[in-house]
Amino acid sequence: MDKFLIDRFGRSFPYLRLSVTDVCNFKCSYCLPDGYKGDAGGFLGVDEIRRLIAGFAELGTRKVRLTGGEPTLRKDFLDIARVVSQTPGIETVAMTTNGYKLPQRAQSFYDAGVNAINISIDGLTPERFELITGKNRFEEVMDGLNLCREIGFAPVKVNAVLLKDLNDSELDAFIQWACGGVNLRFIELMETGENRAYFDKYHLSGDVLVKKLVDSGWSETARDVLGGPARVWKHPNQEGSVGLIAPYSRDFCTTCNRLRVSAKGGLHLCLFGDGGHDLRPLLQLDSDKETLKDTVCELLDLKVAGHGLHDRHTGATPHFASIGG
Ligand code: 5AD
Ligand code: SF4
Repeated sequence: MDKFLIDRFGRSFPYLRLSVTDVCNFKCSYCLPDGYKGDAGGFLGVDEIRRLIAGFAELGTRKVRLTGGEPTLRKDFLDIARVVSQTPGIETVAMTTNGYKLPQRAQSFYDAGVNAINISIDGLTPERFELITGKNRFEEVMDGLNLCREIGFAPVKVNAVLLKDLNDSELDAFIQWACGGVNLRFIELMETGENRAYFDKYHLSGDVLVKKLVDSGWSETARDVLGGPARVWKHPNQEGSVGLIAPYSRDFCTTCNRLRVSAKGGLHLCLFGDGGHDLRPLLQLDSDKETLKDTVCELLDLKVAGHGLHDRHTGATPHFASIGG
């Protein structure tokens, strides 16, 4: 490979998170408490996405996650999944979903080439789920999750944002659930441009989780190259796993292995960086591929060592729906 994605700190980037829409139909209290408000349109089309992924794949990208907003709200979501999964060099196509209509649609996602799926479930009762997401869809999402496990997505993961007073009383129930084979991943609440007061009220350090796990015999596993900054625990007698994404922990950014492209084609070097670098003009012609690759490599030189969250610098991200959580 002539060009390769490696930054000034020796980090390489086999993993691209591509947002395909900013639009979301849920109202998660930490993300879009009043629902999606923007003008829904102008997102990259299938051909632009095809060119983008072809360029990144030649730079060493092996895994692409389709995210949003809620990616499945795109009418052409299956076309997108197909072009990404058919790109030479892309070995894993993952997606993140809020689970909307998942029971009806999971099989079609798999058939379009999606191999891995993350489903957001922040509470384990219908009431708590609705309190956090604004939607009374707990049963539907759980049915979707169970179906995904039968279909054979590998892996199926559940994302849960750790929230003081909103779901920390369910930590034991969550861990018990993982014992039955679920791959859980807790995410510490991150501050964004629009959720400062919420963050101050509900942020909870993952230390409480780590203590519970260690006290009940779980042990931390070695990091997976494509896994990035998540820490993962397993238990010798249990099937599932419990992960933690703790962006406020020391050294979190040293294992960064991902880049992000927003729904309109902005390259974001960090979730908490300052705005995207517009790649869209380079996605109009197949013949621009080398220029696209050169541009991405040059932009990567601007990637800094770590985020400024500790100093409350949240960058240009108003909420995760705008850049792909
Ligand atoms: N902090 C942490 N995680 C967040 N997500 C969205 N907003 C935040 C935030 N402020 C995550 C949720 C959701 C995924 C799409 O993005 O886990 O499941
Ligand atoms: Fe939608 Fe995801 Fe934001 Fe929830 S976290 S409102 S599901 S984009």
